[in-house]
Amino acid sequence: MSISGAVAALLEHASNNALVPLGCAVPDPGLLRSQRLDLALARMARQHGAGHNVYSPPRGEAALRREIAKRSMRAGHALSPDDILITGGCTEALMLALGAVAKPGDTIAVESPTYFGLLHTLEVLGLKALELSTDPIRGVDIAALARVLDKETVAACVLSSGFSNPLGCAMAEGDKRLLLALLAKHAIPLIEDDVYGDVHFGRERPKPFIALDHGKNKLIYCSSFSKSLAPGYRVGWIAPGAYAQRVMERKLAFSLSTPVLPQLAIAQFLDGNAYDVHLRRLRRVLEENLGKMVRAIEASFPPGTRVSRPTGGFMLWLELPKHFDSRALFDEALENGICFAPGDVFSASRRYRNCLRLSAGHAWDERMDSGVRRLGQLARAQLVS
Ligand SMILES: Cc1ncc(COP(=O)(O)O)c(C=O)c1O
Repeated sequence: MSISGAVAALLEHASNNALVPLGCAVPDPGLLRSQRLDLALARMARQHGAGHNVYSPPRGEAALRREIAKRSMRAGHALSPDDILITGGCTEALMLALGAVAKPGDTIAVESPTYFGLLHTLEVLGLKALELSTDPIRGVDIAALARVLDKETVAACVLSSGFSNPLGCAMAEGDKRLLLALLAKHAIPLIEDDVYGDVHFGRERPKPFIALDHGKNKLIYCSSFSKSLAPGYRVGWIAPGAYAQRVMERKLAFSLSTPVLPQLAIAQFLDGNAYDVHLRRLRRVLEENLGKMVRAIEASFPPGTRVSRPTGGFMLWLELPKHFDSRALFDEALENGICFAPGDVFSASRRYRNCLRLSAGHAWDERMDSGVRRLGQLARAQLVS
C-alpha cells in the first residue's frame, strides 16, 4: 500500500460503520458538539438568507480570525487577526506552508514516525522526507538533529507543537527552546503543526514553538479544529509570518477562499464559553478512553508489546517484537471487522512494520473493548504460528 493508498483507505474505512473504528485519527461525532455547531450554522444560514452564498475574503472571515487570535493569546502567543489565514483544515495549511518554503527536490526534516498525511503531502509536492529519530516521550532527538544539520541541506523542518501523531510525545519547553536555537543557527524555517494542542490532559496547554520563539526563527504555525470540534467543517488556519505573501499566492491558486458558513458557525461557537466547556469534557473522556484501551491491550496483546503513554491526543502507538508484521495483521483485522493503522505508513522509508497505531477517539463501549481484545488475540496468533 502506498502512502496515498493508506490515506485513501483509512478515510474510506472511517466512514464504514461495520468496522470497529480504531484506524482513523478522528474523534467520535458523538463526543463533539456537532448538533450545537450545526444549529449555529443553520441559524447563520437562516438569518442572512442568501447573503452568505459568496466568496469569503481570501484571508478568511474576520469574525473567525478574531476568535482564533484571542485564543492564541491564551496559548501564549500574540497573533493579530491579520496574521492569520483560514484554510481547508490543517492539511491545506501544511500544503501552503511547504509550498512557500521549499521547491521540488528539497529535503524536509520530519519526526519519525510521523503522520502519514504529511508524508503524502511531501510526496505530492516532490519533496524528500528526512526522518528524525524521535523519542516516544521527549520528542525529537536534538543532538541527532544537530549532527544531521551539520551534514545535510534541509529546506525546512516540520514538527508537532504537542502530542505528535502517532507517538503522542510532547517536547518539554526547554527542549523546544534548544531546538529553536539550533534551527536559528542554521537558518532553517520551522513549520509547526498544533492540531492536537487543545486536547491536553495536564492543567496547561503545551506552549507551541511560536510562543517561545520571539521572532528569531522563520516560523509558520498551522492548526485546525479537526481534532477538537469539527473535522467535517474542514476549517483550519495558518500564521505564515515572513511567508505571508507566498502563502497567500498559493491559497488563491489552490482554493481561492474557504467556505463561509462553516467559518461563521465556528466563530459563533468560540464566542462565549461553549468551546471551553466542550474541551474540558472531551479531554476527560479521551483520557479515560486511552486508559481503558491500555488495559484491553495489556490483557490481550502478546507479551513484550510496548505501548506509548501520551499526555494528550487520543492515539496509542504499539511496538511488537521485531518479526511481527502489522501489515498482515491489518488484512486479517479487516476480515474480522476491525480497522487500525499499520506502522509502516508512518515512515517514508517504511520502517515500523512491527508497530501499529490505535485510535481511542470513539466512545468507549463493549464493541471497542472487544475489538481491541480480538486484535490482540490475532496478533498473538500471528506470533505463535
Ligand atoms: C498531525 C496531523 N496534522 C494534520 C492533520 C490533518 O488535519 P485536518 O483534518 O485539519 O486537515 C492530522 C489528521 O489526522 C494530523 O494527525
